[in-house]
Amino acid sequence: MDNTRLVEKIVELRKKHNAVILAHNYQLGEVQDIADFTGDSLGLSQKAAKTDAEIIVFCGVHFMAETAFILSPHKIVLLPDSNAGCPMADMITIEQLREEKRKHPGAAVVCYVNSTAEIKAESDICCTSSNAIKVIESINPSRDILFVPDQYLGHYAAGKTGRNIVLYPGFCPTHGRILSEDIRRLRGYYPNAIVMVHPECRPEVIETADQVLSTGGMLKYCRESENEDIIVGTEIGIIYRLKKENPSKRFIPVSEQAVCPDMKLITLEKILWSLEDLSPQIKVPEKICVKAKAAVDKMLEIV
Ligand code: 13P
Ligand code: SF4
Repeated sequence: MDNTRLVEKIVELRKKHNAVILAHNYQLGEVQDIADFTGDSLGLSQKAAKTDAEIIVFCGVHFMAETAFILSPHKIVLLPDSNAGCPMADMITIEQLREEKRKHPGAAVVCYVNSTAEIKAESDICCTSSNAIKVIESINPSRDILFVPDQYLGHYAAGKTGRNIVLYPGFCPTHGRILSEDIRRLRGYYPNAIVMVHPECRPEVIETADQVLSTGGMLKYCRESENEDIIVGTEIGIIYRLKKENPSKRFIPVSEQAVCPDMKLITLEKILWSLEDLSPQIKVPEKICVKAKAAVDKMLEIV
């Protein structure tokens, strides 16, 4: 079936089932185009919490669909390919978190939204890349902080807030492919370019950048910036929307290898199948869901 026919059938079933399609900024271009809303993790959580739709088709990775379920447990949440996971989220198990908590009694546990529902349930508050600093600042200054699982976002937030943060050694393998030497080389080719990177990048990459932003922050920055040349240090799926929204500007990826294979598992065909079969559904056991929701709601109150 060609893409036009696939899109027609998806639109038909979306209407029939009163479904909403949410897509992350790293999704394939054709998936972003069919979505009702495309955004960063924070924007997507806010949409998932507010939607009137009965079914949420989540075009992203497993923890994002789980977060949508946590916020709207009475809705059906579909993840068109249940293999779409996040290697960073899988870098910490519940046993490892409990061990860290034993080692740091009294520390407030902040979990990056890129974590499983179980990890969220065992944390005090959640954060995303766009509100990590605000979340850290909301914690009583007398308390130490344990940040899981992204050591680089935690390191960045510690530097910005001056807080004492214990870092768990998780990382994003895709952002690990973004290197400071590539940024320096590209600055040579494009001397007037501005460099923006995601806070999941390594500290030496963050030091070389002009702007450190979530994917939603990058889109906003590029809409408002006068710069014609922008070097982009994040997963390259975002470049599709950057170009669409800013046709006169030039976007240069730091690395063509910064591709998240999990994000790319979602295709138009799989979206159609998921709406036909109402599967695969993502659910979270009630006990975990209630505790995880407390950590996510606490974050949503702050932003
Ligand atoms: P944001 O879109 O929230 O910046 O997150 C990036 C990411 O890695 C999602 O997996
Ligand atoms: Fe996880 Fe990195 Fe992929 Fe985001 S880009 S889903 S953090 S592996």
